[in-house]
Order: sequence, then structure tokens, then C-alpha cells
Amino acid sequence: MDLIFEMNSLSASYGTNTVLENVSFRVNENDFIGVIGPNGGGKTTLLKVILGLIKPSAGSIFFNSRLQDSEKIGYLPQISTGDVDYPVSVTDVILSGMMIRKRIITRMSADDRKKAGKIIEELGLSGLEKASLNELSGGQLQRVLLGRAIIGDPKLLLLDEPGNFVDSTFEIDFYGKLKELNNKMSILMVSHDIGMISSHVRSFACVNRKLRYHPSSEITNEQLLAYGCPIQLITHGDVPHTVLKQHN
Ligand SMILES: Nc1ncnc2c1ncn2[C@@H]1O[C@H](COP(=O)(O)OP(=O)(O)OP(=O)(O)O)[C@@H](O)[C@H]1O
Ligand SMILES: [Mg+2]
Repeated sequence: MDLIFEMNSLSASYGTNTVLENVSFRVNENDFIGVIGPNGGGKTTLLKVILGLIKPSAGSIFFNSRLQDSEKIGYLPQISTGDVDYPVSVTDVILSGMMIRKRIITRMSADDRKKAGKIIEELGLSGLEKASLNELSGGQLQRVLLGRAIIGDPKLLLLDEPGNFVDSTFEIDFYGKLKELNNKMSILMVSHDIGMISSHVRSFACVNRKLRYHPSSEITNEQLLAYGCPIQLITHGDVPHTVLKQHN
């Protein structure tokens, strides 16, 4: 199996506001694509179209028919810590990723619980099994949501700005973990931190109403400009950090 999904001349709108226009884009097995672009450029909308939460206003998206619905997609939404103030435990949140897959609320099997336990350990969350979400740091919360996204063994993992909370102590492990997951699934990762992600992704898609695909992880400012992604370099602490300027 090679293809995961393909978009053909796809557009997406909110009412009369067209946010994605005439996008043709293909994702294959084992791709690791960084999705970049200015605020409001349509990155989150792109992920929602892939998830089927937003229907295209024109064009189409289709998935490889050999993929089972239940194994298609894991999703880590764009969040801020304030969004999550529920007294739900870490284990239950990770297990809820199974529930979405099963589409019915059933009792979790012993195997599911074992799997959640293994993921908790792998993500460095041991000891926090019973902690509730509102007690976690941003980085811990992000890892819990990653656990929730991967527990169903998806073939495609969508990450919307996972780096926002990645604390520096876990950063290497976080990207190391993604690299390991990439052996089993394709990854689309939205990020504003081109400097950080360019050493992890294999290619880039720049989204600013249009989508421009750049099939290499090495991307220069000039290329970004050529791809319609104006950028400016700023320094962020000691680390050179690239952000995108608003397009016209
Ligand atoms: N539910 C919605 N209803 C109406 N308009 C929306 C909705 N969600 C997003 N938009 C608009 O669609 C455009 C694209 O939004 P989107 O969230 O996809 O951008 P983004 O690239 O993810 O931005 P950011 O980098 O800030 O997360 C924006 O102009 C936004 O205001
Ligand atoms: Mg977004």
C-alpha cells in the first residue's frame, strides 16, 4: 500500500469565505510532512477536511480503499492549556482514543488498558495515570493527547502545533517518538517552528489558501518565498527561529 489519501482540486469555505482553494495534494505511506504557513492560512482547516469534519465546497478527497475506517487517522488538536479543565484521568483520556475508533461506548478490554499503560510508560507519563488533566503541565498534556491519538494504531497521524507545549527536556524524546511512530504511520505536522521541524520532517507543505508542496526537508528562505510563503527570521532565545509573515 502506497497512497494514504489524495485531494484533487479541493476547496473549503466557511460560508462565503474560501479558506482553501484548488488544493491538490497526495500523502503516501511513511510520509513525514511539515505543514507551515501564516496564521489564518488554513492549516487547521486542512486537517479538518482530512478528518471529514469539514466537507469540501469543491473538488474531492479520497482515501486508499484498503484502509479500514477505524485505522485511518489519529489527531492531536491545536489546544491551549486553558481549553482543558476537566477532572478526567490521564488513563481515561488515552483510552478515549480507543472509544472513538470503536464508535460505541463499551467497557474497555483488559488489552486496551494494557495498551494504555504501555503508551503512558513510553511517553514518560508513569506515575500520572490517575492524575486529572487540569493538574498537568502543558508538555504533559500534549503527551497525553499524543497517546490518545496513537492508541488506535492509525495509518495517518495529524498533529496541530504539537510543539507549543513541548518542554525542552522532553523535546528530543518527543521528536524521537514521532520518528519511531513514522515507521508505522504517515505524519502531517503543523508547526510555526520551521527551524525545529526541518530536522525531523521529510518534506513541507506551505498552506496559505493555496497549498504548495516542497518535496525536501531542506528549505531555504528563498525557496519559501518562491513557494509563496514569505518568512522572516527572528531569534528566539539562543535558537534561530523562523516564523511566517502574513501573506497578502
Ligand atoms: N469555524 C470557523 N468559522 C468561520 N471561519 C473560520 C472557522 N475556523 C476558521 N475560520 C477562518 O478560516 C481561516 C483559516 O483558519 P485556520 O484555523 O484553518 O488557520 P490556521 O492556518 O490553522 O491558523 P493558525 O496558525 O492561527 O492556527 C481564518 O481566516 C479563520 O478565521
Ligand atoms: Mg491552526
